[in-house]
Parts: sequence; C-alpha cells; structure tokens
Amino acid sequence: MTNATDQDRVLIFDTTLRDGEQSPGATMTHDEKLEIAELLDEMGVDIIEAGFPIASEGDFKAVSEIAKRAKNARICGLARANFADIDRCWEAVKHAEKNRIHTFIGTSPLHRAIPNLTMDEMADKIHETVSHARNLCENVQWSPMDATRTEWDYLCRVIEIAIKAGATTINIPDTVGYTAPVESADLIRRLIETVPGADEVVFATHCHNDLGMATANALAAVAGGARQIECTVNGLGERAGNTALEEVVMALKVRNDIMPWHTGIDTTKIMHISRRVSTVSGFPVQFNKAIVGKNAFAHESGIHQDGMLKNKETFEIMRPEDVGLSGTSLPLGKHSGRAALRDKLSNLGYEVGDNQLKDIFIRFKELADRKKEVFDDDIVALMRSGEDAENDHLQLVSMKVICGTGGPAEATVEMEIDGKDVTATEQGDGPVDATFKAIRKLHPSTAHLQLYQVHAVTEGTDAQATVSVRLEEDGMIATGQSANTDTVVASAKAYINALNRLIVRREKAGPGADAREISYKDLT
Ligand code: KIV
Ligand code: ZN
Repeated sequence: MTNATDQDRVLIFDTTLRDGEQSPGATMTHDEKLEIAELLDEMGVDIIEAGFPIASEGDFKAVSEIAKRAKNARICGLARANFADIDRCWEAVKHAEKNRIHTFIGTSPLHRAIPNLTMDEMADKIHETVSHARNLCENVQWSPMDATRTEWDYLCRVIEIAIKAGATTINIPDTVGYTAPVESADLIRRLIETVPGADEVVFATHCHNDLGMATANALAAVAGGARQIECTVNGLGERAGNTALEEVVMALKVRNDIMPWHTGIDTTKIMHISRRVSTVSGFPVQFNKAIVGKNAFAHESGIHQDGMLKNKETFEIMRPEDVGLSGTSLPLGKHSGRAALRDKLSNLGYEVGDNQLKDIFIRFKELADRKKEVFDDDIVALMRSGEDAENDHLQLVSMKVICGTGGPAEATVEMEIDGKDVTATEQGDGPVDATFKAIRKLHPSTAHLQLYQVHAVTEGTDAQATVSVRLEEDGMIATGQSANTDTVVASAKAYINALNRLIVRREKAGPGADAREISYKDLT
C-alpha cells in the first residue's frame, strides 16, 4: 500500500454470527460459531459481532466462548436499549481482551411508534442506556436503527446524545436497504460535519441489500467519511442480506486507484471462509455471486477462453489466487472454442494434431449441445470413442436383486471383467448398497463414492431414472451416468461406467500424476 495513512484504514466489523445468523434457517451450532469466529479472527477482521447474548442461553455461551478464545479481533455483542440486555452482553464479552457493547434502538417514526415513546422519552432512554454501557465497557457502539428513515434533525440530536453519553462508534444502519449510494455518502458526510463531537468517534455503515445496493452503499458511506464497514460473509443476513465482506474488501483492493482506503483483511482466506459459512449456515452461494460464486473465475465462451489462454487480464480484473483459489476455471460447454478444447486435452494427456482436433471438436459440440457442462471424463470418453470404446474393462452381464421388508437386500451381479465372466452375491442396506458391494467384490477399488444422484427423466411409475455417480480416488475424479426404467440397474451401470472411466483416467495419467492439475477441484 503506497501513501496509505491511518485516516485511510477502514475497520471491518463482521456480523455473520449475529445479523447473518438471523436469516431464517441459518442457525449455526455452538461449535460451528466457534469455528467461523476463529476463521474471521485469523483473516484479520477487526471486530466480530459474535451474537446477541440475551437472545438465548446458546447465544450467551457462544459469545462468551468466542470472547475467551479471540486472539486479535475485538469481540462485540448486541444489546437492546435496556439495562438487562446490556448487562448480559457485558457478562459475555468481558472475557475478551478487546471487547465492545453494541446497543441500539429504532429511531425512525415507524420504530418509535412500537414502544410508543415520544422523541424526548426516547432521547432520555438513549442517554441512560449508552451511559450504562459505557460504565461497564470502554468501547461502546450505538446504532439508531432505521437511521436512513429517521428525521434529519432528530437523527443529529440522538447521535449527539449518544456521543455525549460515551459511545465510541456511531453506526448508521440502513436497516431496510432503502438508501442509494449518493444519499449514503451524503448522509455520513453531513452527520460528521453537523453533529458536535462527531470527529471524536468512528462512524460506521451497516447496509441491507433489499434493493441490491448494500455493497455500493457501504463503499459510498466510506467516501462520505465512515471508517467502519459492517458486513457478513457471503452477504448472509435478514431478507436479502447485508453488505458482503468479500465484496467490499476486494473492491477496495482492486479499485484502490479511486477508493484509496484499505482494510487489514488477508484476502487469500476469503474462499475458505465463504465455503465454510455456506456449509454451516446451509445457504448455498449463488453460482454467479461476485468474488465467491462458482462461476466468478470461470470462463466458458470461446472468445473468453481464447483470451484467457493468451492473457488472463483480458477477462479477469483480479487474480483467483488473491481470494484463495488455485486458478481460473475454463469449463467446457457449448460456447467453448477449439483453443480451450486443445488446452483441456493437453491437460488430460492427449496431444492431438489439427485434423484430429477438428474431428473431436465436432463431436464435442454435439455432446455440449446435449449436456450443460462437459466434464473431464466426458472428454476422455469422447477420445475413447475414437479409439477403443467397445473395450470397457468392466461390463455388466446380468443382475438380480431381492429386497423388501423381510431382511437385508441381496444382490447377485454377473460381470465380464477383461473378458472373464465372474459372479458375486452380497447383502446390503438396501438394493443399491447390496449391488455396489457385489460390484466392489468383483472389482476391488479404493475409489470413494462422492455423489450418488437419481433423477426421474419422465413421469409416472415407469419413469426413466438417470443415475449419476461420482467417484474419487487419489484426487482423481470420474463420473458415470446411466438411464433405465429400473433404478437399481441404472445405478449398477452408472457405477460401472464411473469405474471404467477411472481406470482409463489412471492409465492416461500414468503413475504419480497429479490429478489436481486436471480436475479444477477448487470450483466444483
Ligand atoms: O439492521 C439493523 O438496523 C441492525 C441493527 C441492530 C444495527 O442490524
Ligand atoms: Zn442489520
């Protein structure tokens, strides 16, 4: 960072464990919260809002434990504007070396109407509660909830009261995601210019994403003078969520030329925490989500792939490595061109001449028209169909399965393995399990079953079932697919299909080959 001053440092306040966890269905367990807090601390988050201690015994315990374990981050808890909340919050955060009480009250006309307080009564409450918090903790954040819909004069008045009562951070929440970037910058700028004592405190911005402007609003607020951004990993949060941590941090990094502010975040940890938050919250990340979506560094169209292979800067404004990915992905699909196909073939161990490439390209396009995404082993199969497709090492000859309510399922499978006829019978937990066991008995394999999926392609009880199986062995991945009106037969064929592909992949890669280089595992 060149010419950066302390004035340019923006604090990152992460509220994934409080506002993020408030998303319906995003509840995390105690251990999951501790894990996420540790990751946030490690990546350089300045303040972690770890929960709402009075909300439940579980929240209290999680905030207390996170406070005890924190290494660098300041640990904050949320409290409404009453003494019981504030005391409970302090009991939890006091264990941290650096702590904070965050207390709030809704100041807009709509929110004042709920406790039915007059402006003066609310002003008194703010004075009392902030003073109480400050008597307990030297670091107090105060938020006028729904600030962006609060009358200007009243907002200035209550902020002044909170500062006088000892608040050290004033947070301006756009609780319902109503504001626009120009207003966001202007509001913070005018508050700092107008409110007595504003220069003694840090102004923070807390934006919700109801109109999709949370990140833009947060950055605009920084332009207006805010020096703390409140955000969540993956933008998790109530309704449409909050400002996404990864978006503001990367925007400040990539566009430092026009936004000369910086954070203390280690951006290479972004991808990992994004995936963990997605897993533990149960909220998948949309494929095209900025920075952390599966497609954020993936290029499928021919022109883009060709450009990327020549110079990555043609279509990428940041390096995948900067967010913790090992590289770009060039998934093959119907928009891909010859350059990407040749590159993929070469990664898979096939060096082809121009004429052969022409032929494979035609067959690849036919396949891509039928399939959404063409995987590595589809390409291997394409290559094989030109070589020795009929020579699958493993073939299903026949099978019989007995299953029902009376006991374990039993499968008898007859296969031809490299020309030799063999049969095995195995029992299992259901017909598919018994079948896979019988196949493994005939062809022992250490391949780990990563995915087993059944889709009905047609309707009715005679529907065609398409079964997909994904196997992984020593970092090498192979998928198999088969369709049949009998789901168990489709399963057996898909499994055998995947095993055959694995055998070919192993032969192609040769001993000691590093499968990671060809599987783009990071993005799947
Ligand atoms: O959105 C909001 O107003 C909040 C406050 C509690 C700060 O989350
Ligand atoms: Zn919020």
